[in-house]
Amino acid sequence: MNIRNFVIIAHIDHGKSTLADRLLELTGTVAQRKMREQFLDQMDLERERGITIKMQPVRMQYELKVKNEKLKINDSETFHFELYTLNLIDTPGHVDFTYEVSRALAAVEGAILLVDATQGIQAQTLANLELAKKENLKIIGVINKIDLVSDSEKIESLKIEVAKLTSQEPEEIIPVSAKTGINVLKILEKVIDEFPAPARNDFVVAKSGGPKVNLPAGGEKPFRALIFDSHFDTYKGVIAYVKVIDGAVRRDTPITTIATKAKIQVLETGIFKPMLSVKDNLKSGEIGYLATGLKDPSLIKVGDTLAANSEIKPLPGYFEPKPMVWASFYPESADNFDLLKTALPKLKLNDASLHFEPETQEALGRGYRLGFLGMLHLDITVERLKREHHLTVVVTTPTVSYRINNKNGSVVEIFTPADWPASNASRSEAGWPDMSGVLTIEEPWVRLEILLPTRFMGNIMKLMDNYRGIYQKNDYLGAYHLILNFDIPLSDILIDFHDRLKSSSEGYASMNYQLTGYRPSDLVKLQILIADEPVEAFSKIVPRNLAYREGNAIVKKLKNIVPKQNFAVALQAAIGGKVIARETISAARKDVTGYLYGGDITRKMKLLEKQKKGKKKRAAFGRVELDSDVYLKMFRDSK
Ligand code: GTP
Repeated sequence: MNIRNFVIIAHIDHGKSTLADRLLELTGTVAQRKMREQFLDQMDLERERGITIKMQPVRMQYELKVKNEKLKINDSETFHFELYTLNLIDTPGHVDFTYEVSRALAAVEGAILLVDATQGIQAQTLANLELAKKENLKIIGVINKIDLVSDSEKIESLKIEVAKLTSQEPEEIIPVSAKTGINVLKILEKVIDEFPAPARNDFVVAKSGGPKVNLPAGGEKPFRALIFDSHFDTYKGVIAYVKVIDGAVRRDTPITTIATKAKIQVLETGIFKPMLSVKDNLKSGEIGYLATGLKDPSLIKVGDTLAANSEIKPLPGYFEPKPMVWASFYPESADNFDLLKTALPKLKLNDASLHFEPETQEALGRGYRLGFLGMLHLDITVERLKREHHLTVVVTTPTVSYRINNKNGSVVEIFTPADWPASNASRSEAGWPDMSGVLTIEEPWVRLEILLPTRFMGNIMKLMDNYRGIYQKNDYLGAYHLILNFDIPLSDILIDFHDRLKSSSEGYASMNYQLTGYRPSDLVKLQILIADEPVEAFSKIVPRNLAYREGNAIVKKLKNIVPKQNFAVALQAAIGGKVIARETISAARKDVTGYLYGGDITRKMKLLEKQKKGKKKRAAFGRVELDSDVYLKMFRDSK
């Protein structure tokens, strides 16, 4: 069958979307006048930030010129053209979106591993390669951005390194410039030559044990497909993105989801061009979409199997990603809670790694606790709620989850500082867990891999001295690169670690991490008070020895963010009721003497005196109302 399904995988910014642009042009998939840079980054947010967040499938067609081995005319070679359908899935490169990559990999047979010639092999090159190998994909290596490297020896030595990873010969690695288009055609030809066609499972085996017989389109095998992504359409309901494994599907076919047992009468089938384009059926081996008509987003789960009937064996699904970081979202205005409630399941349809559960907090009202794969994922979610659902949310300080081991043997996992055990017995009387009943508190640790050119080794080791990480080992990758391994608490690397790593290595070091388990730590809850009122959204769980530094940093940050009031506002950080850091925002001075002119100094003094008294009175019952801007700024600044 003339179908090739493949992905492009790479470290962030190595040029996947740009290479996809050239492939779209070469195959004439997108008309020249409609072409724009990084065409497959369809979300405005992706284009503004210059990063891919979502995987994006696209179907291309290419006519390959093939030599007729047996037909020569007047001793000259003759050729014919064969039409190929090429389904490409562009994937994100940032570590927070690895789940997108892993799902795309399960829908294809081949992967192009793209390496930036100026950067070389980076942490996500290796991490994504590992994922592709686990899926048994055929992998071809490509070096990109050769227009930026004049030193041909550098390209040759990178070819050797990449070839080692992809188990190819160095001369098989294709050097290209996705920007100028040099050598991109060679990639297309290699994709057709070397990637296997998807298995066609719409055949039956002849009863006599004779040869396999291909059946006409439509297939006799019952329909079975893997859902790898989805989105919501107001008119057509949930649109499921599928790779058809067995049989075929068309409009009006009755099908079912195996895990959620939803009955579906298919409204429409089609392909990605990359916009949805109707096609009257999808057969085994093809990648496309089907409109389910379902209005309940929770019935279509990424990784579930769509099948002709509920008796059919499900396909292997995907592992459920484990959230790394948690934060609570509250609608800025309580009236918008229902908006948030309907927006989150719709977001989850095409962001399967998003986790959410309803939650109520005294000061903030009704909201949701969300789990993310990292800080960028969190940031993008806030932004998508704003753009796609016109919803501004208050975001609490992001945190990892903690395990509380109680003396009575029970273990409680908490996801927000609001659930931290009370430091005194007062709350425990109301059934709240109390510190005296706690044996140990554990936090998540990760195995951190830092890939760096050897010349930055000293800088990176110095940087690591500031963290709680424990050095484990190093591995050399070629002569000039090194992978350092550390065990480190996840919370240490969540916030600004990546930026520091980049600045300690002139941008060359990159990182990857994997959760390894929980370990006990000496932690405290840092409470933040504004005008003597605790603001739970800003409280934070921190290692005891860092509490003073953190507390100081938070009140200083708040000082710049909380708007001035008519009275002086105290900003305090406290542990168990004991204040450890304090800042004050002075009162905004209203010009009460402005209308006076001339030199009546006594009248002026009198008015100022009166103002002072008024302020004192207000300060006694002064309450600071914080709008969502303050929460957002705190959250953004804490990245
Ligand atoms: P993510 O999906 O966010 O990981 O990025 P990506 O891998 O899709 O990279 P993208 O295509 O967005 O390219 C990143 C940057 O590199 C852009 O500014 C591109 O213009 C530039 N770029 C890509 N390929 C080339 C190339 O061959 N030569 C040059 N000079 N620049 C390139």
